[in-house]
Amino acid sequence: MGRGHYIAAMAIREIISLPDKRLRLVSKPVEQVTREIRTLADDMLESMYDAPGIGLAAIQLAVPLRLVTMDLSKKEGETNPRVFINPEVLTSSEDFSVYEEGCLSIPEYYEEVERPAKVRIRYMDLDGKVHEEDAEGLFATCIQHEIDHLNGVLFIDYLSKLKRDRVMKKFTKAARLAAK
Ligand code: NI
Repeated sequence: MGRGHYIAAMAIREIISLPDKRLRLVSKPVEQVTREIRTLADDMLESMYDAPGIGLAAIQLAVPLRLVTMDLSKKEGETNPRVFINPEVLTSSEDFSVYEEGCLSIPEYYEEVERPAKVRIRYMDLDGKVHEEDAEGLFATCIQHEIDHLNGVLFIDYLSKLKRDRVMKKFTKAARLAAK
């Protein structure tokens, strides 16, 4: 099938951003991998690549379901699309690592966040198969960031109140100006 068909089958959806209150919703588990879930996963990947970003949670497309997409491939022209359904952290390491994080729902804002350096996760794939996997490095940081989204938690929640208030104020003001 030609590229045209492929593109037509997927859709880029709008990524919601601060101060949208839906980002604070707790997402519901995916009960069954239906055609709608597959379409949602495709749209999430497409929207994530378009942004561009390396990770996305369904709530960022205003869908409160426990679904995460990710692509951590580093090489130019290489892709490694991954889908995590109902992902959860089983265990976390006691050692921490620090990454400068950003979020497609908090555009152009980056801050260092400290998280467990390694986590063991469990998730379901698009075939309904359950997997357990060890994550470290950027993968560990990214999956923790995305699982936080499923619980209505944002990376700015780990910053000082002063920094968080400043970001909220900036985005609230920008949204007000855009609405005028
Ligand atoms: Ni994010």
